[in-house]
Amino acid sequence: MAFAQAIFEECWPRWQQHFSPKTRLQLRAVVLEALSDCPDAVASRYLSADELGQWSGFSQKKRRTEWLGGRLAAKWAAAELLGVAEAEWRTLVIKTEEDGRPYLTAATKAMVPFLSISHSGGLAAALAANLPCGLDIQQPGPKIHTVRQRFARHEETEILKSSLPKSFAETDRLTMLWAAKEAVRKTVRTSPLLGLLETRLVTGAGGGTPQEPLVLTFTSGREQDGCPSLISVLCFFSDNLAWAMACLPITKE
Ligand SMILES: CC(C)(COP(=O)(O)OP(=O)(O)OC[C@H]1O[C@@H](n2cnc3c(N)ncnc32)[C@H](O)[C@@H]1OP(=O)(O)O)[C@@H](O)C(=O)NCCC(=O)NCCS
Repeated sequence: MAFAQAIFEECWPRWQQHFSPKTRLQLRAVVLEALSDCPDAVASRYLSADELGQWSGFSQKKRRTEWLGGRLAAKWAAAELLGVAEAEWRTLVIKTEEDGRPYLTAATKAMVPFLSISHSGGLAAALAANLPCGLDIQQPGPKIHTVRQRFARHEETEILKSSLPKSFAETDRLTMLWAAKEAVRKTVRTSPLLGLLETRLVTGAGGGTPQEPLVLTFTSGREQDGCPSLISVLCFFSDNLAWAMACLPITKE
């Protein structure tokens, strides 16, 4: 979807200052409606034989469309990072770990990007990066209020309230917190996944738009290998979706 690409290209120089200087990252999104009746002949231009088999195996149309959208967004983002032409996306094979985490197999490339995929509200989006990364997009809705006890502490909602402009409604603030915590869970590789109440928001600053994103800092709440004590998440609203993305810092040079 051109809009995610346009936002990324406009905002990346500003976003980059919140990541390690050597972070390389690409964000892409696709509209699911355009894929809901995607013929096999079109999908086979982008998917490997194994991926095509997996896609054909989904019985629910919604899941089939979301899965395809996520794969296409991830291949697009990875192709941008690697300099691979659209005609070669089939060679960027995405597999899934036991716990559902997507990973790229690109044996011929010097760098194999990390991937993160999310779908919500008619969109599928993906991040590809040279470091472990996490992306979550979330459409705001009233349901967030009914599950708030499962992910939001009072102190956290107060931090969001004081960080974001007053124009942000409570539903939007809660949705942003949810998306940010999901992005953290996807970024940090732990078993089991970090719990939504295990991660704790400690600071927030910024505007909540793509141009002036809100930067939220979380403690992971767990002492385990590969689990950083602090993790920053960039958040903004765009196209009636909360977007949250994180990337781990470089630990070794
Ligand atoms: C995955 C999860 C973290 C976020 O999902 P969500 O916010 O509901 O949905 P999103 O659309 O944002 O993300 C879905 C994508 O996350 C990715 N994902 C799934 N599991 C993941 C994991 N463990 N780590 C990182 N990413 C994961 C996948 O790419 C998935 O899309 P796909 O199935 O089309 O490839 C959430 O579903 C979850 O907590 N799952 C529980 C996982 C679990 O405990 N599995 C145990 C199985 S053994």
